[in-house]
Amino acid sequence: MREEIEVMIPEEKLMKRIDELAAQINEDYKGKTLTILCILKGSIFFTCELAKRLTIPVLFDFIQVSSYGDDTKSSGKIKIMKDLDKPITDKDVLIIEDILDSGTTLYRLIDYLSEGRPASLKVCTLLDKPARREYPVDVDYNGFEIEDEFVIGFGLDYAQRYRNLPYIGILNFVDD
Ligand code: IMP
Ligand code: MG
Repeated sequence: MREEIEVMIPEEKLMKRIDELAAQINEDYKGKTLTILCILKGSIFFTCELAKRLTIPVLFDFIQVSSYGDDTKSSGKIKIMKDLDKPITDKDVLIIEDILDSGTTLYRLIDYLSEGRPASLKVCTLLDKPARREYPVDVDYNGFEIEDEFVIGFGLDYAQRYRNLPYIGILNFVDD
């Protein structure tokens, strides 16, 4: 089986949309300090591009989670692999996620982070695949709604590869 990549969202289109999201966030958080919470590892590229465009004061923290269970069946639980460095009590927190798929990760993470009593907790995702949703998640900022395809690049991986592609691509497996 050969892996073939088809460009879904080119780099220029990603940058243009991130410009728009950043402008909206700058407006919404005017006068506040924003704590950006990057979900490792998939969100690193999106977090950097977005943060470079923010003019409000910004703090960063990182969290890494993994879902229990295998690739095909989600157990609905997550495991914290790397926790927050500092408490988020009374902070305005914006979770940055690469892609919202079944919703398991964000649903559980929002639950967990809410226990830390932030002043506000919002969600920003680059991609949303609504067709596969199993858990309801309210998204405050979304880059692109996409079809049910397996995508890679701009942080997203297949078996840890392809994260460094500067665009979002569809990964197809072809028989020769
Ligand atoms: P959820 O918990 O099912 O919403 O899945 C979210 C996580 O699954 C994302 O943070 C990604 O790491 C991974 N994921 C979901 N769809 C894709 C995809 O199309 N390509 C790569 N990773 C994906
Ligand atoms: Mg991820």
